[in-house]
Amino acid sequence: MPNIVIAGAQWGDEGKGKIVDLLTARVQVVARYNGGHNAGHTVIVEGRKFVLHLIPAGILHPGILCVIGNGVVIDPAALERETGELRELGVEIGDNLVISDRAHLILPHHRALEALSEDQRGSRKIGTTLRGIGPAYEDKAGRRGIAMGDLLRPSVLPAKLAEARRHYEEVLRGAGRAPDVDWDALVTELAAFGERHRARIVDVSLVLHRHLAEGYSVLFEGAQATLLDLDHGTYPFVTCSAAAAGGASTGTGVPPSRIDGVLGVAKAYCTRVGTGPFPTEIEGEAEDSLRSRGSEYGATTGRPRRCGWFDAVAARYAVRINGFDTVALTKLDVLDELESVPVGTGYRFEGRTLEEFPSDVSILEECEPVYEVLPGWRASTLGVRDWAELPEAARRYVDRLSELIGAEIGVVSTGPDREETIVRGNSALASWFA
Ligand code: GDP
Ligand code: IMO
Ligand code: MG
Repeated sequence: MPNIVIAGAQWGDEGKGKIVDLLTARVQVVARYNGGHNAGHTVIVEGRKFVLHLIPAGILHPGILCVIGNGVVIDPAALERETGELRELGVEIGDNLVISDRAHLILPHHRALEALSEDQRGSRKIGTTLRGIGPAYEDKAGRRGIAMGDLLRPSVLPAKLAEARRHYEEVLRGAGRAPDVDWDALVTELAAFGERHRARIVDVSLVLHRHLAEGYSVLFEGAQATLLDLDHGTYPFVTCSAAAAGGASTGTGVPPSRIDGVLGVAKAYCTRVGTGPFPTEIEGEAEDSLRSRGSEYGATTGRPRRCGWFDAVAARYAVRINGFDTVALTKLDVLDELESVPVGTGYRFEGRTLEEFPSDVSILEECEPVYEVLPGWRASTLGVRDWAELPEAARRYVDRLSELIGAEIGVVSTGPDREETIVRGNSALASWFA
């Protein structure tokens, strides 16, 4: 049985949650490998809406083992809030959820550090979700972080927190602000949290290794996306984790040799939340109309998402970085009313047309997109489940995107519900699960 990575191809919110939910029926384990509660993965099942932040979208299926990998950062309060909300909706969360003992924690001082750093950036703000994600990964890389496993031996906590505290207080005092974390209360809270979750704090690599040895299949769920990846995204306007497919291995402790395929999720147009370059961004009525038809408001922060046309240069780059065997193209129905649909195929910069995605954000900020304009279909694709039933111009749009990005588009999503999906019979996806 195949082990597949699901990763975002653009700037996030491509519909990864929906695709993970769709494929969960074919696997036994779903493992989240990066990010934290900055993510918002919306899944609609028979008209009921579930928004997952930290917990893998697989949790909505009974009998699936859900794993939060070492590459994820966990805010204890956010985790308990989310489990509480899901339980209220009737989702069972017990020994079907395990968390890596190596996953690092987001603590109150991380949120304070992030607010300060965003303030200090002035007009060059990243526009983060202010969840403490970046500073938690900074403490991890700075070798002063606290991991879930540390909570199992609370006697070691005060000494381990001392390093993070010293760094935090130095930064705050340097900025003329007063530190205000109650560290003693924090130790007590963390110890109690660790005790409540003791049974699910485990060596995730070992658990996954044993499941793989039994022949079970694992779906690796990515949060954020390639262009927000710390290494491969539009740095510095990125998140702080390995969001592209490579993160599935480092973020769970499953070696690359055990991963069989990668499915990319891309929207039929583009959106971005937060600041940073977005070459095919549009403005005015066209943007408002995409935003309103696509309900493009952040599931985590409620912020309106910036909208633009499909960027084939960026998507082809994502194909290269992730090695997508197949792509799920989502929200095709959002384009239904357009007379014509522009697609970015190159970037004009200093008299040249760039066809490869540049690493320098100043080029991305200054370039002018080159568009190929494809005919619209002006007919409803909402809920279409068969490729043959799509209007011809919609099929041509999908096929042209596939040609431009150099990857197969094996899934087309035509609505938010699990059922509103076309899986193409000749796709890599169909062969994985044949
Ligand atoms: P994720 O972060 O990648 O999981 O994506 P989000 O859940 O943040 O955003 C995707 C949004 O689009 C969600 O509200 C989904 O319910 C919705 N969605 C997913 N696929 C489709 C689709 O094909 N058509 C429409 N209209 N909505 C979709
Ligand atoms: P999902 O998994 C879209 C963006 C933020 C900001 C940048 C850094 O739902 O696709 P951070 O708080 O991570 O340090 O913010 O990354 N961002 C997302 N944008 N979808 C997400 O997750 C995002 N998670 C972070 O808006 O620009
Ligand atoms: Mg999202």
